[in-house]
Amino acid sequence: MDAVYIEDLKHHLGEQVTLRGWLYNRRSSGKVHFLLIRDGTGLCQCVASKADLGDESFAAADHLGQESSLEITGIAREDKRAPGGIELTLKSFRIVAPASDYPITPKEHGVAFLLDLRHLWVRSARQHAVLRIRSEIEAAARDFFHDRGFVLFDAPILTPTSCEGTTNLFEIDYFGERKAYLTQSGQLYAEAGAFAFGKVYCFGPTFRAEKSKTRRHLTEFWMVEPEVAFFNLDDDMKLAEEFVSSIVARVLERRREELKVLERDLAPLEKAAAAPYPRITYDEALARLKARGFEVRWGDDLGGDEETALSSEFDRPVMVHRYPAECKAFYMKRDPARSEVALCVDMLAPEGYGEIIGGGQREDDYETLKRRIVEHGLPVEPFNWYLDLRRYGSVPHAGFGMGIERAVSWICGLHHVREAIPFPRMMERIEP
Ligand code: 4AD
Ligand code: MG
Repeated sequence: MDAVYIEDLKHHLGEQVTLRGWLYNRRSSGKVHFLLIRDGTGLCQCVASKADLGDESFAAADHLGQESSLEITGIAREDKRAPGGIELTLKSFRIVAPASDYPITPKEHGVAFLLDLRHLWVRSARQHAVLRIRSEIEAAARDFFHDRGFVLFDAPILTPTSCEGTTNLFEIDYFGERKAYLTQSGQLYAEAGAFAFGKVYCFGPTFRAEKSKTRRHLTEFWMVEPEVAFFNLDDDMKLAEEFVSSIVARVLERRREELKVLERDLAPLEKAAAAPYPRITYDEALARLKARGFEVRWGDDLGGDEETALSSEFDRPVMVHRYPAECKAFYMKRDPARSEVALCVDMLAPEGYGEIIGGGQREDDYETLKRRIVEHGLPVEPFNWYLDLRRYGSVPHAGFGMGIERAVSWICGLHHVREAIPFPRMMERIEP
């Protein structure tokens, strides 16, 4: 008989079905055993009685270890009290592989212990909900761009140069002949794609050798980066708010159950599910921060605490634009009306989650861009291909990058980005 997934049990009420999965939990009243089975799509309570199973199997069912893998046959019945609303009356079961002394028990464990066992921790209900929402967010991001005619233009991971600055590059010995670096962002390559296809996005892992141990920093994270020819900063901000609001709306629509498991307050998400979002300039941000007792020197980037304070003034994500050029990357185009600020934007998530998007309009003039590369202390030679884009039919263009783990943390309401990715890499951890 074909096995069914627990999420499809509702189509099989009254029928005999086979489930395949793992023992999540077990309790017994003596007369009946309750086996809670998980198969990745849901949980199902299976009720075992001596009459249905026979003496031997009934006794064996009482000794199954947590996470033993099982194939279970029984009758699906509606039961409002059972998790998922459906219960299985057990007819027979087969142990695929027994497990004993599973290290993660239903009691509370410390995070360090659980991170060491991340390969098993991902089976737990909370982690399961987070990673399903992550998967939904990634699918929503791809669909958003695909449906709008963007071409997926994958960027390389091994690169000859830095993109976001040299201080946080992972360096690699490339065949003993030269150095290579793990990419910090696919943006520069996406710009080449935008001039070839008009609108593109890249979506892949990116790396930062940042010595920061905050709850917002990973050394390896996933970024989705659209890049569009003939786009200015305003177009870019509009795309960013439509993008983020559509992702939040999709999670609210399709991942309610998971949000419930996480006890996520839905009210702030419901607000964020509709564009437009508020926009303020960096200067206005500084004034608002000053009123809250934060003295930021004009020219400095905003830190985590400042981002949190600022975003608490809004009930939706806020876009802060036109930062001082001096605190941003070399490729940022300056505002022609005010050359000390860059045509850039950071989107700050509400509820203290900080920056989820960084982006803006790119410098499109050959001479200016070349000068900026030099001013930033970068070698010109490796950027010749990038400068070519300004030599041959340069146009105004803009794009942004959204860090997936930051978005997942915010939407799930997590304390730390380390739970937003299956296997987090941080300064102090690259295992398992
Ligand atoms: O602001 P960033 O550095 O921007 C760029 O890399 C641009 N090249 C993107 C572009 O315009 N195409 O990073 C973009 C986003 C941040 O807003 C944040 O969400 C995430 O990437 N991010 C990190 N996430 C986790 N850990 C880190 N260390 C991160 N650094 C950036
Ligand atoms: Mg940034």
